[in-house]
Amino acid sequence: MKNVGFIGWRGMVGSVLIKRMLKKKDFNNINAIFFSTSQYGESVPDLNIKNKNQKLENAYNFEKLFELDIIVTCQGSEYTNEVYFKLRKIGWNGYWIDAASNLRTSDNAVIVLDPINLKNIQEKLNMGVKTFVGGNCTVSLMLMALGGLFENNLIDWISVSTYQAASGAGAKFIKELILQIKYISNIIPNLINDKSNNILNIEKKITENMNSSNFPKKNFHTSLINNLIPWIDKKINNSGQTKEEWKGQYETNKILNKTKKIPIDGICVRIATLRSHSQSFTIKLNQNLSIDNIHYIINSHNKWVKVIPNDFNDTINFLTPSFVSRKLDVVVGRIKKLNIDKNCFSIFSVGDQLLWGASEPLRRMLKLLI
Ligand code: HSE
Repeated sequence: MKNVGFIGWRGMVGSVLIKRMLKKKDFNNINAIFFSTSQYGESVPDLNIKNKNQKLENAYNFEKLFELDIIVTCQGSEYTNEVYFKLRKIGWNGYWIDAASNLRTSDNAVIVLDPINLKNIQEKLNMGVKTFVGGNCTVSLMLMALGGLFENNLIDWISVSTYQAASGAGAKFIKELILQIKYISNIIPNLINDKSNNILNIEKKITENMNSSNFPKKNFHTSLINNLIPWIDKKINNSGQTKEEWKGQYETNKILNKTKKIPIDGICVRIATLRSHSQSFTIKLNQNLSIDNIHYIINSHNKWVKVIPNDFNDTINFLTPSFVSRKLDVVVGRIKKLNIDKNCFSIFSVGDQLLWGASEPLRRMLKLLI
């Protein structure tokens, strides 16, 4: 059995991964060793697998890491930068599976999303590639949603606006959003019970409170509730894009691995949802397909994508972050021809960014190796 080390397995992505692995009984086929960057030496919590009496190993102990056949890390970019290159330099030749973004641009790494690029993953495995990285969440969710159109080479270009949940930014951000909700909800009962207060006064009070110095905004630097932030990640020099927007075209084309590159661009927006990312696409096809045809091509690509009928009730019940969260389904809806151009149509997608957007491609890559 392969020795598989897990690092960063208690963070948001890591714990979703472990939960899925327990559900799918993936631990039956590996010898799992759990690492920690700070709490090594402490007991590994009982996961009801063969890990009784195991102590957490030090995630910076290179001798211990060297013994592993496979490393799965959800610890983040800093850990990858500090450990990956040193480990390779001292001759470690195991498989590195990573949720962090920093190795995605490396020629020696494959971005994994097997319902889209299984063939490429297998080719690279046969060539001896040993580094496999999960893609950006919105990229992976877009490819799962639109896989049929990409596979059939039907897309000329894509323009996208994203609606990304607070948890996509990390645990401390989702906590801050919850603190912001609490802060405002504390003042609402008094305001709403006071009959003399008209609704515009209440709106004004809430806005004033959002701007008060005590309002919790250390991480977002602004309020996310009663607000949105049309900026995700750092600025890319000269292009006007943010890094999140840049990844859309770069990572998609790296995963597709085709000669003809598809232009993709848009604006990435953080919104006050807790979990699951949504995206609104304008897509220019290279031919005039009927809506029924588009439905068929999208639906038949993979078993997780689900087309939601373009009507009010289905949309509010099924095409939402609250419906999709904690599910592997990637839902798409609002599919309609745009009166801009006969080859253009709109489509809205929602998917759980912690599942298909992060942990699930890594879990499936690990399964391919074992
Ligand atoms: N870059 C993504 C975000 C993380 O900021 O939402 C993926 O969830």
